[in-house]
This record gives sequence, structure tokens and C-alpha cells, in this order.
Amino acid sequence: MNKLTAAITGVQGYVPEDILSNEDLAKIVDTTDEWITTRTGIKERRILRNGASSDMAVKAVEGLLKKTNTDAMDIDLVVLATVTPDYPFPSTANVLCDKVGMKNAWGFDLIAACSGFIYALSTAAQFIETGKYKKVIVVGVDKMTSILDYQDRTTCVIFGDGAGAVLLEPNTEGLGVQDFILKSDGSGREFLVQPAGGSANPPSIQTVEQRLHYVKQEGKQVFKFAVTNMAEVSAEIMEKNNLTSDDVDWLVPHQANLRIIDATASRMGLPKEKVMINIEKYGNTTAGTLPLCLWDYEKQLKKGDNLVLSAFGGGFTWGAVYLKWAYNS
Ligand code: UT7
Repeated sequence: MNKLTAAITGVQGYVPEDILSNEDLAKIVDTTDEWITTRTGIKERRILRNGASSDMAVKAVEGLLKKTNTDAMDIDLVVLATVTPDYPFPSTANVLCDKVGMKNAWGFDLIAACSGFIYALSTAAQFIETGKYKKVIVVGVDKMTSILDYQDRTTCVIFGDGAGAVLLEPNTEGLGVQDFILKSDGSGREFLVQPAGGSANPPSIQTVEQRLHYVKQEGKQVFKFAVTNMAEVSAEIMEKNNLTSDDVDWLVPHQANLRIIDATASRMGLPKEKVMINIEKYGNTTAGTLPLCLWDYEKQLKKGDNLVLSAFGGGFTWGAVYLKWAYNS
């Protein structure tokens, strides 16, 4: 029997209907459309007014099951990446399985901030490659607005809400996940962190008064690490797999900042036409960015295309996945 690989056989995204534009934000904090557009590339983002992360994940997964003609009862495992779970526990994966009726699946959440989807995809792929499971769903979802401080113009303009999900199935044609490089450096936690709500700083009147339940980011520091490491790891996975820039059909980059995306594409020697970009309409949806890109560009993808997925985020966490697309839409 040929070697088993884990192939993406379907992708579905979900973004809430409500749009928060740069102009809307300029009415709330001291900012301008010009500043946000030139510094980040973002024009608008989606906002989930009511509901939790699991509700967005439900929409993405229900759509995924429908379009791939898959019975919810046939799903073996759900790996869900998020930093905005419904609850500290139980996991959002458990909530999702219940809401969608994936009664035969087990699942767990994985925290790797903006690298969540590539961490989750690489983890989930192992269960397919060993032959243990036949149908695994990987979800990247974040309701970033639940942890954004709308008094902090340096963070509230960047993030948005959204979810994406892919179905992973065994492949014997050599398609799907080929390789991954994942990295982390916990000393970066001081630059990008939600300080309170965990065991280090349990919720108290003081933590609320000090606004410690919101995302805190030292943007300049994070930018410095992101721009270097995302570009480096993307080049590294190309070299490791003997891929030239001609061999790579698509870069699927985390959507944090257009300048970071441009630097990564440039380091890989890729023209803009090969780079998936949707930051202008969704902003940074943390674990949601990569599956939302795949969803937006699905129709342009062809069986056998070489994709490099690449991300950098809180932790610090970063990495890249090399995969061969497995189907024509
Ligand atoms: O996805 C997870 C990983 N995160 C990232 O990759 C984010 C990485 N960082 C970034 O993308 C950028 O650092 C930001 C977009 C967050 C900020 O852009 P920047 O070019 O690094 O700006 P800055 O923080 O150096 O601030 C420049 C100026 C400051 O004013 P002064 O001190 O020069 O007078 C800020 O106060 O821009 C000011 N500023 C703003 N002005 C208008 C900061 N935020 C805003 C704002 N509107 N929203």
C-alpha cells in the first residue's frame, strides 16, 4: 500500500455579517482610515455581536459537512485552535461536537494564537498518517472582539472575528500535508498576552479595573520578530523540500499585517499573484486567517498545487506547512 498522507478534502469559512469599518473605528478611538490602511492593509473587519466562538465554528463545520457530503456521525476527531474559547473549560471542540451532532468524535482545543491553525493541522495530520482515523476536522476560530479593548487604538483596529474549517482524509496519491516546521519561544509572552483570566491572574475586581482581560500587544516588538521569523521559516521549508519559487503555487500567509506578508513573499521570491490576501476585509482573525484564505481562494486552487502555509503569533509561536492541494473545485 502507498504511504498515507493527510489531505484537505474540503474547506469552509464563516464570518459574521456585521462589518466594522476603519471609519467606524475612527468614531470610537483616535485613529484614521489612512493610518490603519497604510500601517496594516486592513479596511474593515467582521464583528460577532451575539454568540460565542463555537457558534461561528458551527456555521463553518455545518457548511463543510454539507459541501463534502459528510455525515456528522462519521467524524472521528476535531482539533480546534483558538485563544477565545467559549469557556476556560470544557473545550470549545467539545461544545462544537455537541452542537453539530458529531457524536462519535472526540476533540480538543489547542492554543497557539495566530499559529493555531498550522499547529492544529500538523497535529491532526498525524492521526490520519498513522491510519488511525479516516475523517478529522481542523478548525481555526476566534472571537477576538471578546478580548479587545476599544480604548486601546493600537490593538482594537487590528483584529476581527471569524472561523474556518477543513476536512482531512487519507490520501494515497501523495497529496496533502508534505512537511511542517513548527517553532515556539515562550520568552515572547511579554509582548503579546492576555494577562488576566488564567491561573496567573485569576479574575478579580482589580484585574477588571486594570483592564487586564484584554489583549496587550507591543506592536513594534512583535512586528520585528514576526517579519523576520515568518519569512525565515517559509524559506526554510522551501529549502528543506527542494522547492524553488517556481515550484510554489501559493503562499497562504497569516493575515496580521500586509507589510509582514510582503516581506515573507519577497524572501520566498514569490510575486503578488501567488499570495493569498484577504486582510483588507477581515483584519486579523487569529486562528481563523489561514482557513479563511483557503476558503476565499478555493476556486482558484488546482489538484497538485504546492501551497506553503505560514504564520507567526503570540507565544511566540510560528511555523510553516507545505502541502499539495488534493482536489479541483
Ligand atoms: O497576529 C499576531 C502577531 N501580531 C502581529 O504580527 C502584529 C505586528 N505588529 C504590527 O503589525 C504593527 O506594529 C502595528 C500595526 C500593530 C503598529 O504599526 P507600527 O507601524 O509598528 O506603529 P507603532 O506601534 O510604531 O506606532 C507608530 C505611531 C505611534 O505614535 P507616535 O509615538 O509615533 O506619536 C502610535 O501611538 O502610531 C501611533 N498609533 C496609531 N495612530 C493612529 C498606534 N496605533 C494607532 C492607530 N491610529 N490605530
